Amino acid sequence: MDNTGCGIHAVHHLFLIWLSVYPLCSQGSWMWLGITSVGVPEKLGCAHLPLSHKQKELCARKPHLLPSVKEGARLGITECQTQFRHERWNCSTRRDPNVFGYELTSGTKETAFIHAVMAAGLVHAVTRSCSAGNMTECSCDTSLLGSGSPTEGWHWGGCSDDIAFGTSFSRRFIDSAAKNTSTRGEEALLIMKQHNSEAGRQAVAKTMLTDCRCHGVSGSCAVKTCWRTMAAFERVGAYLKDRYETSVHVVDRSKRKVRRKDKEQRHVPITKDELIFFNKSPNYCLEDRRLGVTGTRGRKCNRTSAGPDGCNLLCCGRGYNTHVVRHVERCECKFVWCCYVRCRRCETMNDMHTCK
Ligand SMILES: *[C@@H]1O[C@H](CO)[C@@H](O)[C@H](O)[C@H]1NC(C)=O
Ligand SMILES: *[C@@H]1O[C@H](CO)[C@@H](O)[C@H](O)[C@H]1NC(C)=O
Ligand SMILES: *[C@@H]1O[C@H](CO)[C@@H](O)[C@H](O)[C@H]1NC(C)=O
Ligand SMILES: *[C@@H]1O[C@H](CO)[C@@H](O)[C@H](O)[C@H]1NC(C)=O
Repeated sequence: MDNTGCGIHAVHHLFLIWLSVYPLCSQGSWMWLGITSVGVPEKLGCAHLPLSHKQKELCARKPHLLPSVKEGARLGITECQTQFRHERWNCSTRRDPNVFGYELTSGTKETAFIHAVMAAGLVHAVTRSCSAGNMTECSCDTSLLGSGSPTEGWHWGGCSDDIAFGTSFSRRFIDSAAKNTSTRGEEALLIMKQHNSEAGRQAVAKTMLTDCRCHGVSGSCAVKTCWRTMAAFERVGAYLKDRYETSVHVVDRSKRKVRRKDKEQRHVPITKDELIFFNKSPNYCLEDRRLGVTGTRGRKCNRTSAGPDGCNLLCCGRGYNTHVVRHVERCECKFVWCCYVRCRRCETMNDMHTCK
């Protein structure tokens, strides 16, 4: 295998993911996405994983973090596909080193979402592992312990998630990207990647919740113990999807400084939790092999929905085919003493619509 990780077709799918979130193979920094394809990354050894040079060094120093890196990639991709399952661009991944294909380097808002959700997935997975007591570098957040509001009958206790280590690890792992960019396009992608990855990390912080448990005689809740916890990753994904919908088109004016493209808004600063992009997205309607866009032909659509999954929008006005599909399921199940369940087989015929 070569150093850049560009020739790792043989490695299984999960590790390839990290390989591909990063814009250019030669930059290496996104190679870690490929990590999701490796069965048991620990067994493969850092040197053989699709990671950039810097990441291999980080990996060699902290091999126990590999399962979290892999889990982070899985979280990010699964969530991307869930959030976009009804859209023309559905975050499909491919079994090659460029997992996300065109979307990774296109500089569009889809690129922005991928950057953000992958960085957030890494924070989430590492932090889970910290709270589970699996790490030496981190554990629960103990800074809150002992305080609270006794008069209101609650105090901090239990294990509060401490996202500090996960956040800084996500930064080191992802931003250890080549700072060495040659063209303006690469430079723009790098700025985008850093900004949007950070927005992803912020999303984990912003969606944190407080959970409490009651104590007291027969559940009277006289005393409550509360702790800070990360939201389920689906919540983080939904938060980022909202940011995607309102993402900001920017132009690259001077060195390292981006501004809103919208002239009237030009002086409104860009905040940390906004997603930014440089290029307008294609409409994703038709297949374009050159760009790696699959198009929506053959996608299932909903005839009655006015949303993005509706046949009109999803099929870009091309129309749709209707098929009748037979659906067989177990039904009228009865418990029979003792001890099994007896069911009938029920058949229904349903209409299914797919884009022309
Ligand atoms: C996305 O859509 C394509 C068809 O355009 C389909 O083949 C693929 O399975 C879908 N991917 C996901 C993750 O739903
Ligand atoms: C913690 O480690 C145990 C044992 O290796 C593993 O089964 C578990 O999945 C880990 N939990 C997390 C959240 O990483
Ligand atoms: C930056 O890239 C140039 C050529 O692409 C290379 O010669 C140089 O060694 C690189 N510098 C670093 C710090 O990687
Ligand atoms: C199709 O869309 C309608 C209206 O949004 C919704 O009520 C229905 O459940 C959808 N059907 C499927 C199969 O998703």
